[in-house]
Amino acid sequence: MAHELENEDPIKLAEFQAKIDAEIKIEPKDWMPEKYRQNLVRQISQHAHSEVIGMQPEGNWVSRAPSLRSKKILMAKIQDEGGHGLYLYCAAETLGVTRDQYIKWLHEGKAKYASVFNYPSPTWADMGAIGWLVDGAAIVNQVSLQRTSYGPYARAMVRICMEESFHQRQGYEIMDRLMQGSEAQRKMAQDALDRWWWPSLMMFGPHDADSAHSSQSMKWKIKRESNDDLRQQFIDKTIPQAELIGLKVPDEKAIWNPETNHYDFSDIDWDEFWNVIKGNGPCNKQRLDHHIKAHNDGEWVRKAAQAYAMKQNNKLQTA
Ligand code: 3HC
Repeated sequence: MAHELENEDPIKLAEFQAKIDAEIKIEPKDWMPEKYRQNLVRQISQHAHSEVIGMQPEGNWVSRAPSLRSKKILMAKIQDEGGHGLYLYCAAETLGVTRDQYIKWLHEGKAKYASVFNYPSPTWADMGAIGWLVDGAAIVNQVSLQRTSYGPYARAMVRICMEESFHQRQGYEIMDRLMQGSEAQRKMAQDALDRWWWPSLMMFGPHDADSAHSSQSMKWKIKRESNDDLRQQFIDKTIPQAELIGLKVPDEKAIWNPETNHYDFSDIDWDEFWNVIKGNGPCNKQRLDHHIKAHNDGEWVRKAAQAYAMKQNNKLQTA
């Protein structure tokens, strides 16, 4: 990375780093190293893509929710995720790249989204596991991102984190209710935990030593805590939640270690992690095909909205 900063003006670079070190937020019109901007273009847009694609596994259950109450809660949650995508695309657009370009990179397979969304959601318990575990993991990561150095990204996190807390609680409530139900319902909840536990741990990214971006992202305070630290925080708070309602995480090594004051856990299957990211997960093609179809089907809406906005604009100018 150091060689990539060679082309930057050393004085400006030093002034930039001094702002970062002094906890001064970097705003869109501020000078920033091209590599800082590119890193944010990558991370914020992938975050936005994750929010929107993450609506798919849950959308699968709106018409099959077991009660009107659970349908209303699920719809509210899914609508929140669409809003999170909107805030994040707006934050990403402040970096000089258009929404259309971000979507094009996603559709061309040049941009990633969280690998966790490439798994199927075959039972109602998956709605519980996704809310409790996936949103639970997202909260740990996003609470930390509220302190990220780029202003628009940090500010987008504030509202996202408040809404994620509702998402996590409603998911945990689903799991709790199932665990108070029949043997079949308890089995469904444990099966969902078994399937979503490891993909949720993967949301925090590779081990710090294998992370391509972490060291520079930490120096520039894009990241405030490391992948492994955030993962451990999530594990430490989630295992007691599982045990409280009678669930068991699918890891024999997940035992409290009084010496480290953390839970031990087995290593993650990194071959699965990279394989799913490469496009070979159970639902990668389905998720992207659905996104592309929805985007194309929605083109008339975007065109109508743009035409209306232009008409309003012209009215204002001729008034
Ligand atoms: N899924 C897909 N790709 C991942 C990944 C994951 N879980 N974890 C890491 N990667 C990718 C990275 O994007 C990077 O690839 P790239 O260079 O092509 O972008 C590569 O693996 C190396 O990983 P690094 O650790 O070096 O990458 P980062 O420094 O970017 O750290 C991250 C990874 C922790 C995921 C970071 O990008 C991040 O914090 N992103 C924002 C958080 C986010 O996207 N969360 C998902 C939210 S979805 C959600 O909340 C919906 C829920 O409400 C249902």
